[in-house]
Amino acid sequence: MNTLQAKKIVVAITGASAMVFLHSFLQLLENEQIEVHGICSESGEKVLQLETGISYTQLPGVTRWFDSKDFAAPPASGSAGYDAMVVLPCSMGTLAAIAAGISSTLVHRAADVILKENKKLLLVTRETPLNRTHLKNMLAVHDAGATICPPHPSFYLNPKSIEEAATTFSWRLGDQLGLEMKGRKRWEGMNV
Ligand SMILES: Cc1cc2nc3c(=O)[nH]c(=O)nc-3n(C[C@H](O)[C@H](O)[C@H](O)COP(=O)(O)O)c2cc1C
Repeated sequence: MNTLQAKKIVVAITGASAMVFLHSFLQLLENEQIEVHGICSESGEKVLQLETGISYTQLPGVTRWFDSKDFAAPPASGSAGYDAMVVLPCSMGTLAAIAAGISSTLVHRAADVILKENKKLLLVTRETPLNRTHLKNMLAVHDAGATICPPHPSFYLNPKSIEEAATTFSWRLGDQLGLEMKGRKRWEGMNV
């Protein structure tokens, strides 16, 4: 059973494809009145611009953005009191850094801190196909306490657009964070 009810979280954007899921997830967090602080890697900025045409500062729901090179920012310390961190999307490079405990950017350090504090770390890992190193790194972070959440919409809920499909995935992340989510559709069995 998920007993977490996250109130303050870090969202990190790294340079993988799947930026389409960001807007819907951040909107959901705003609706749930979650305090959200953000970090965007340098590659994340470029891929976000390419896939959505916007800068990270135009995304909804984030009250503070920290530079990915800022090692003095609150997410770099366990005492800052975040309940959870979501890396959306999570590149294989960032996955590898987290798996190896290499804290060379604020994204990597924040994830390392979340794990050492035994808090919830959701990694929306995106790559296809996966090589052996990717799979080994996923197992390593799983064993260290992270949850791997590939960006897979719930097609059985019959989303009618990319945005609706993204929302079904945001609900899955919200479940992991213990959010109530008014209007969240759930599987209720086959109506046949
Ligand atoms: C358009 C584009 C799409 C990319 N998509 C992915 C991806 O889906 N998964 C991945 O692991 N890397 C992807 N990359 C490569 C990463 O951006 C690159 O490895 C980068 O160094 C990751 O750095 P970061 O984890 O600090 O953001 C992509 C790069 C570009 C330019």
